[in-house]
Amino acid sequence: MLLKVKNEGDFLRQVLIAGNWKMNKLIDETEEFCREFLPLVEDISKVEVLICPVFTSLYPMQELFKGSKVKIGGQDAFWEPRGAYTGEISPAMLLDAGCSYVIIGHSERRQIIGESNVIVNRKIKAAMEAGLNPILCVGETLQERENQRALEVVKEQLTESLQDIDLGEKPLVVAYEPVWAIGTGVNASSDDAREMTGFIRKHLARLYNEEIAAATRILYGGSVKEDNIRDFLAEEDVDGALVGGASLKANSFARIIRAGEDG
Ligand code: PGA
Repeated sequence: MLLKVKNEGDFLRQVLIAGNWKMNKLIDETEEFCREFLPLVEDISKVEVLICPVFTSLYPMQELFKGSKVKIGGQDAFWEPRGAYTGEISPAMLLDAGCSYVIIGHSERRQIIGESNVIVNRKIKAAMEAGLNPILCVGETLQERENQRALEVVKEQLTESLQDIDLGEKPLVVAYEPVWAIGTGVNASSDDAREMTGFIRKHLARLYNEEIAAATRILYGGSVKEDNIRDFLAEEDVDGALVGGASLKANSFARIIRAGEDG
């Protein structure tokens, strides 16, 4: 079921609301969340709902979400399928635990772990080859924005992260997450989100073609809450949200999803 109807060529993109739990919640807490969350979203039909918990919560979460439409995803995946890579997890392992999506290149991984666009590119390729849907995260730091380099940085992240990747078969999800808006309570303005998501779609059209650009879902992420989600979803090129802090509480996450459903 597709919700957003876009003018050019009537491309349809289903709104995706994804929760990124980062390094939060033990298995018990995950189970408690799922039990509270499921009844709150059981009638949601237009919005695609996704939660990306920590790896240890994936399997219990998939058990609890069985029979519901809520999807689960990983927060990262390595590029090799198996082997001597201590501490890593492969796309096939995520699939095995019930995942259909994986977040790749989140700014916390870029900034804290030092992930480069080259690494992000390898991870996206591996995820796609294994049959997982990657959510490619891009976004500028405050300094880059202040130096008027935001567009240039995001352009480079897209170009390098997508090098030699064929998007003809399966549409991609891109999350625009300005680093200065993540976990800070300071969200981007609708104008900033409009400018950057429009720019991302145009750049995808240059890298691929209009059709692929129109089929790509672009999420906004960075201090999304129930009070600002509607403003973002109202933007033509925003097809959903990647939600951190506000996805940790069943009630607040469900209200964000409902805003997309009723939108
Ligand atoms: P936030 O995180 O909603 O807590 O700002 C978003 C993200 O990092 O994906």
